[in-house]
Amino acid sequence: MKPRLIVSRQIAPDVATRIHAEYDCPYDGRSMTAEEAVQALHDHRADALMITSHVRYPAEIIAAIPDRVKILATCSVGTEHIDIAAAQARGLPVTNTPDVLTECTADLALMLILNACRRGAEYDAIMRAGWRKGYGLGEMLGLRVWGKTLGILGMGRIGRAVAARARGFGMRIIYCNNKRLPPALEQHAEYFADFRAMLPHCDILTLHAPGGPATSAIINAETLSLLPPGAVFVNTSRGGLVDEDALFEALACGHLFAAGLDVFRAEPDFDTRFADLPNVFLCPHMGSATVETRNAMGDRALDNIAAVLAGKPPLDPLWT
Ligand code: DGY
Repeated sequence: MKPRLIVSRQIAPDVATRIHAEYDCPYDGRSMTAEEAVQALHDHRADALMITSHVRYPAEIIAAIPDRVKILATCSVGTEHIDIAAAQARGLPVTNTPDVLTECTADLALMLILNACRRGAEYDAIMRAGWRKGYGLGEMLGLRVWGKTLGILGMGRIGRAVAARARGFGMRIIYCNNKRLPPALEQHAEYFADFRAMLPHCDILTLHAPGGPATSAIINAETLSLLPPGAVFVNTSRGGLVDEDALFEALACGHLFAAGLDVFRAEPDFDTRFADLPNVFLCPHMGSATVETRNAMGDRALDNIAAVLAGKPPLDPLWT
């Protein structure tokens, strides 16, 4: 008999094929709320639950997960949507999918940096409106990224992959992290223990720190004011790191030259005032959204589930 699995959100087609081959799973591509997922676990007498970061799993939901469920596997690197302490308290293994989305998320950060600096949204809008007006050599100018200083908040796997790409574009790298990296990982990037001390040196600031209480609204009116006038701001981490009213003000008043935003506080809702600003390049939380990476994430989540259901330790445990 195949093990029984509930999948709470639409997943990549190849991953769905693997699930149907290996599991008894009533997957139909529907997005479930956490409550619906718990109900499905009961109805299907499931052994495992695969989720994504689109829905929160607070302590009361974790408590409602049936005892026969052996693992909660999130198909994401981010984990702040899950009360891990509550899962640990009841002995429920929780796993995520690190590593496999590093490169694509770093690519998207560069896409945002380049589009924000080089006015990608505006150029695209001009072309879609028919162009027809030639621009003088002093019009519609962007910012050169070569030679600029890129400040990175969070120098984990994704932050380092962004740094590697940015070096190729001729940028100088500075970073703030909870601890200084060894030279082999630092690669001559300059370390700032104090986030506020780093900000005045950033021509471009990109966020790669996890969400959660420690980083909530770390980008606010005060920290934005420490960036030099004309700086560019990019976020592919989590919307919760940003006070969006303060960011809107900094963009609208011209303190910031531009922003590239992939993540928002209340996704999939977002403050549509950002869409009215021509100097903002927007994406709907797509850092990992390539065929290869979404397949790899699904496979990693399924590998974690298979390990636990076979009585082995999970590959990517979030508590031990
Ligand atoms: C992640 O993996 O955390 C991405 O942001 C998708 O949720």
